[in-house]
Amino acid sequence: MKRALLSVAAALAAVCLPALAAAQFTLAPLPYPADALEPHIDRLTMEIHHGRHHAAYVNNLNAQTKNFPDLAGLSLEALQGRISAFNEAVRNNGGGHYNHELFWKLMAPEGQRGKPSAALEAAINAAFGSLEEMRKRFDAAALGRFGSGWAWLIVTPDKKLAVTSTPNQDNPLMDLPGIQRGAPILALDVWEHAYYLKYQNKRAEYVTNWWNVVNWNEVNARFAAAVK
Ligand SMILES: [Fe+2]
Repeated sequence: MKRALLSVAAALAAVCLPALAAAQFTLAPLPYPADALEPHIDRLTMEIHHGRHHAAYVNNLNAQTKNFPDLAGLSLEALQGRISAFNEAVRNNGGGHYNHELFWKLMAPEGQRGKPSAALEAAINAAFGSLEEMRKRFDAAALGRFGSGWAWLIVTPDKKLAVTSTPNQDNPLMDLPGIQRGAPILALDVWEHAYYLKYQNKRAEYVTNWWNVVNWNEVNARFAAAVK
């Protein structure tokens, strides 16, 4: 009996373990409770955005690993810089996974948001004249993106700050034509799924309120790493 149970367990492991091992990309939990960004971003939006939309990008990206052996062992960030070697599904879902993982970290609950560091503020002043002017350009990128996409503050290869935007789930790390390349230090999701439940068609109101939840501590750290 014991031997029979052991062989059943071994057979189950043989079936299940490869399936588990195949999940190269994983969905991390939100770094804070889903209601931690209220009233600016509501709990239900966060739950659906993370638990359904982001989860789907992860699952769909994992489904592509069997089509592309070259994906194995590639980190999520390294994949972005080599995205042109893959298909549309890897581009959309690989970008979707990277962008959302970053997006969650770039927001924080009250009391944990900090403010721009002296070094970041100096770089913002040098590039845009003032923090307010940078925000204006960022807002214009977010509002001017027709359809779905993202607004970005990046550190360019010559270590300067720039505001840019991308369509769909593209991002500034991707080796694609038409993309302004750089290290993202701030990102805003302007897909309707990011705001429609609370803000409906009022993207401008979402963008204005989103600034209240920006995690400047994370932006500062990413800026410091990018200009090293
Ligand atoms: Fe999104």
